[in-house]
Amino acid sequence: MALLGLGTVGQGVFELLQIHRERLREKLGVDLEIKKILVRDLSKSRSVKVSKDILTTDFGEIIRDEEIKIVCELMGGIEPAKTYLLESLKAGKQVVTANKAILAESGEDIYDLAMKKGVYLGFEASVGGGIPIIKILREALIGNRIECILGIINGTTNYILTRMLENNLSFEKALEEAKQKGFAEADPTLDLKGFDSAHKIAILASLAFGAFIPYEWVYVEGIDEIDLMDLKFAKQFGYIVKLIAEAKQSRRGIEIRVYPALLPENHILTSVRLNYNAIYIKGDFVGDILLYGLGAGKEPTASAVMSDIVTAVEYLQFNKFPLIRYPSRVKDALKLVPIEESIFKYYFRFTAVDRPGVLSKISGILGNYGISISSVVQIGRQIRKGAVPVVMLTHETKEERVIGALKEIDCLDVVKARTKRLRILS
Ligand code: NAP
Ligand code: HSE
Repeated sequence: MALLGLGTVGQGVFELLQIHRERLREKLGVDLEIKKILVRDLSKSRSVKVSKDILTTDFGEIIRDEEIKIVCELMGGIEPAKTYLLESLKAGKQVVTANKAILAESGEDIYDLAMKKGVYLGFEASVGGGIPIIKILREALIGNRIECILGIINGTTNYILTRMLENNLSFEKALEEAKQKGFAEADPTLDLKGFDSAHKIAILASLAFGAFIPYEWVYVEGIDEIDLMDLKFAKQFGYIVKLIAEAKQSRRGIEIRVYPALLPENHILTSVRLNYNAIYIKGDFVGDILLYGLGAGKEPTASAVMSDIVTAVEYLQFNKFPLIRYPSRVKDALKLVPIEESIFKYYFRFTAVDRPGVLSKISGILGNYGISISSVVQIGRQIRKGAVPVVMLTHETKEERVIGALKEIDCLDVVKARTKRLRILS
């Protein structure tokens, strides 16, 4: 086999094979050998000891080599990774990838080609790190109509939120740690702005709902505008902030989104800390399932890649053909429910002038939009000259009402900064 990439994940796979090659040979009756590894920089120092003879910067050496039957794409980014994936499938090689961006943004072409060529396309490492969520959704839960998926599926942002709240770390310091530990994407804005979670939930929704769900359907908000102050105020009200990804299917259509949410402290997902992920699934026959594990990092991701490599070997050994179809087609019957029509409870933090009558102005506008308040706290501490934070929690309301009300409130002369708005998950 060949690896494309010898970064965090590639080195993890290499190391796993160094440690477990003999054990795998005993279990499978097959010796797994890495024949070539594609890298960008041949002279870079690596955490694993690799013979220079197997490193290459020329993909041609891999694609032309008929002894290489399995290609593992662990490079990341869209190009040239996507071209290499398509070339490998065209050449009839079994393909394993950890690349959620490509699958979410151009999965249709890749799934389609894998089916046409009758080869295995493994992407267990694309979602949930070491959690075997792809095989569970594709295979173990195939007898179910999946109604809902809800989870924490980005290790970097969960790590940052945990370190900020529990250890008072600044956002920047927590991000630096996540980068050093190998959790973050090469471009960490993908993690911070919620795009990585959006890629992952689009992949999961496609598997769950049996049709390609376009990535553009995912409503995305990240944690890049989250303030430590909001994490602490939320805690005072008995909530923990988490970056949530969810996909639901109902008679109204598909709701699919990523957003930072306040979760009641007793919610099961609040115990998911640091680079752990958890995914809750509801199926019509199986009922509720909760999967939990390390969602990012070298070792857990290598574990997921190895499970795909072994499945690829099984396809090769027994001349297998994929029975379960990949979700390569968009279904016209599926409709997206826009975020404006979704219903949530909300947390608002207004930056308001500390003077009588201000609260009634704000609550008056909320009232005009039919938004009912469940709690209000004015915190005495000034955050701008003459302005203090006022935190309000609401009862359930439609998002479009919130958009309208906040637009008016933020134009009031007594409001000194854009209002912070977070959704609350019950
Ligand atoms: P990484 O540490 O940045 O490693 C990328 C590797 O790909 C490097 O070895 C790099 O070569 C090589 N590479 C990049 N562009 C190349 C090019 N144009 N030609 C040849 N080689 C190239 O990335 P990573 O964290 O391992 O992530 C890899 C993939 O796994 C991504 O799709 C990521 O989203 C996914 N993933 C990551 C994790 C995680 O925890 N890190 C978990 C699950 C999935 P050089 O070393 O020579 O620069
Ligand atoms: N950057 C990703 C994360 C890697 O932090 O979850 C795992 O997919």
